[in-house]
Amino acid sequence: MPQQSFSPLTIGPHVVQPPVVLAPMAGITNAPFRTLCREFSGGKGLFVSEMITTRALVERNEKTMQLIHFDETEKPRSIQLYGVDPATVGKAVRMIAEEDLADHIDLNFGCPVPKVTRKGGGSALPYKRNLLRAILREAVSGAGDLPVTMKMRKGIDDDHITYLDAGRIAVEEGVTAIALHGRTAAQHYGGTADWSAIARLKEHVPEIPVLGNGDIWSADDAVRMMRETGCDGVVVGRGCLGRPWLFGDLVSSFESSGGPEGVQQPAAPSLREVAEVMVRHATLLGEWIGDEARGVIDFRKHVAWYLKGFAVGSEMRKRLAITSSLAELRAGLDELDLDQSWPVGADGPRGRTSGNNRVVLPDGWLKDPYDCAGVSEEAELDTSGG
Ligand SMILES: Cc1cc2nc3c(=O)[nH]c(=O)nc-3n(C[C@H](O)[C@H](O)[C@H](O)COP(=O)(O)O)c2cc1C
Repeated sequence: MPQQSFSPLTIGPHVVQPPVVLAPMAGITNAPFRTLCREFSGGKGLFVSEMITTRALVERNEKTMQLIHFDETEKPRSIQLYGVDPATVGKAVRMIAEEDLADHIDLNFGCPVPKVTRKGGGSALPYKRNLLRAILREAVSGAGDLPVTMKMRKGIDDDHITYLDAGRIAVEEGVTAIALHGRTAAQHYGGTADWSAIARLKEHVPEIPVLGNGDIWSADDAVRMMRETGCDGVVVGRGCLGRPWLFGDLVSSFESSGGPEGVQQPAAPSLREVAEVMVRHATLLGEWIGDEARGVIDFRKHVAWYLKGFAVGSEMRKRLAITSSLAELRAGLDELDLDQSWPVGADGPRGRTSGNNRVVLPDGWLKDPYDCAGVSEEAELDTSGG
């Protein structure tokens, strides 16, 4: 088979080589997790912050100011914003540009959670073409030289697909690149991501890079997505939960033989090695928060992901998920049979996998995709998701 090498991904002035991106994940992709992934990737790739709401940012909410803190070694600094009001988005973007808070801004239009879509925010918003356009216009003009990208889903549901229109609007408004999660809001995280939509978007907006997202669980999957869709880069989310070393796999697969033909053996850490990463992750969180106990408590949500597939009894799993100090975490881990090798069952889907039955929307939302009504800022609740 002929070798096929992938071009570097360019996001404005930033060259991302190989073209692999850590998906923004609220509550997960904070500076410590990004650092961990970067350590495994040898500094290659792009690592996007968790979602920051524009209103909280312009109000300089204390927690938000902490969330936008980047490690000094992070380059480029990628921040994801979520907003529904063009003026507030514009203000937030200008603040980032003027105060040099980041090097790249990604806008989130993919959040499927009912409390956001109910108000017309998140993945409901691109249905209102004019509002989407107004937000993108404010963002791009406020950002100055900083590249602005957007991340979205295919649409609200199969009867209300928006990604092609949204992609065209993005190009017209000067957005630098688009990431598409190949699911509708109605699908939430259920079913499988539709990679053919990524290919269609690529054909539809040849002017700018298209990044594919959804169901990349291994470096093989990433390479396959690039080949099958012709996308310019991949965005990897849940596959990294409890597996930050996936970034090492991604980089070596893309780099081997200058392309996708020589996919390397995936990392298969023993439980001892996984335990070391767990302690490192919890330590970084504590340092970042400035409080060891709070760091370990924040780490609790990651425990089940790291231990997935290993023979660890349910009592021990529970115990490890309620630790409050590094010493307690270490002591618990030391009691495990650390010589276990990487379990086959740990590969494949992890994290959220459930579907959603119905997308809750404001009354009359679907009547007119082009009306110029705005969205209440209540749609900008501090919430997670994409
Ligand atoms: C816990 C969690 C939090 C997420 N938070 C965000 C977010 O803040 N912004 C966003 O654009 N997407 C968010 N997403 C969606 C992911 O970025 C990604 O689009 C989705 O998980 C599909 O990619 P995957 O199959 O590689 O996981 C989140 C996903 C998860 C599982």
